[in-house]
Amino acid sequence: MYSRIAGTGSYLPAQILTNADLEKIVDTTDEWIRTRTGIERRHVVAEGETTTDLAEQASRNAMEAAGVSPQDIDLICVGTTTPDLVFPNVGTLLQDRLGIRGCPAFSLEAACASFLYALSVADKFVRLGESKCALVIGADTLTRIIDWKDRATCVLFADGAGAVILKPCADPGIISTHLHADGRYKDLLQYPDGVSRGFKLVRAGKAGVLMKGNEVYKIAVNTLGHLVTETLAANGFNKDQLDWLIPHQANLRIIEAIAKRLDLPMERVIVTIKDQGNTSAASVPLALDTGVRDGRVKRGQLLLLEAFGGGFTWGSALIRY
Ligand code: ACO
Repeated sequence: MYSRIAGTGSYLPAQILTNADLEKIVDTTDEWIRTRTGIERRHVVAEGETTTDLAEQASRNAMEAAGVSPQDIDLICVGTTTPDLVFPNVGTLLQDRLGIRGCPAFSLEAACASFLYALSVADKFVRLGESKCALVIGADTLTRIIDWKDRATCVLFADGAGAVILKPCADPGIISTHLHADGRYKDLLQYPDGVSRGFKLVRAGKAGVLMKGNEVYKIAVNTLGHLVTETLAANGFNKDQLDWLIPHQANLRIIEAIAKRLDLPMERVIVTIKDQGNTSAASVPLALDTGVRDGRVKRGQLLLLEAFGGGFTWGSALIRY
């Protein structure tokens, strides 16, 4: 038994922040942001708009694409690091919005790799026969936790949500998922406050994402390079059999380095970073949905999804779409 993606959906908040807008907020330039990251604009949530709001729209789009109704859903698994509340979790809030009762609903956090973690967990529920119709989401509102005075991070992050519906299938589907983490690197990329630390920095107005970008960059390229090789080798595939690389959208230069490692021309990589920035957990399902809806990603093609984030955490999925 395997799981297969029966439908995809995504949602971006209406408000757009351009590089020119950022030039008015911090000491930066459109040229610096474009050449170092590939980002030109990004979507950011409006006052009062939450991760669950974005997740709900993405979920409804995915359900419509899969031809299922909320009553068919028997598992909700959300990857997010920016929940609306400490509890109930985003999965539960979303369950209520969709009018679903009783099925397991939870969220898990693995920074930018959260969607790959959620997909891997939901895939196991489906493969074991415990779910016949799983709703899997990556959604984040990272702009809520960045320091808008820190030019090194505020130009990178953005908001959004992406979702997929998983159903059981005799053939893959999701061929395999590969998850990893290494907590030694916790100081290179983190949000340095939280519940059991008493939100002391938040209260003092001193909290914000901290990143040693240069060091993260080098480790991300190296780690993702190994990850894509591991994922193909585990299933006996060669890199020339791959139709699409659907990477986490953190930096265009990282994406290009991984494509090069796979000998994949950029025409076979789904890139959304220019218009979306780094939407954390949402970036991979947003890129997948973009490719599906514009007709590039077709049924039967071989897809490699990968992501890397704070922790560090990283993960991949090899999928026959
Ligand atoms: N505008 C203008 N100048 C800037 C800006 C800015 N927005 N930000 C930094 N600079 C300056 C720095 O101060 C530095 O100046 P200096 O040389 O005078 O000291 C110079 O630009 C170079 O800074 P670097 O940090 O070395 O720039 P780099 O080329 O490494 O690019 C970047 C920075 C884009 C952050 C890159 O390192 C990167 O993409 N890192 C990886 C990010 C990532 O993958 N994160 C993981 C996923 S995110 C998650 O999990 C939540």
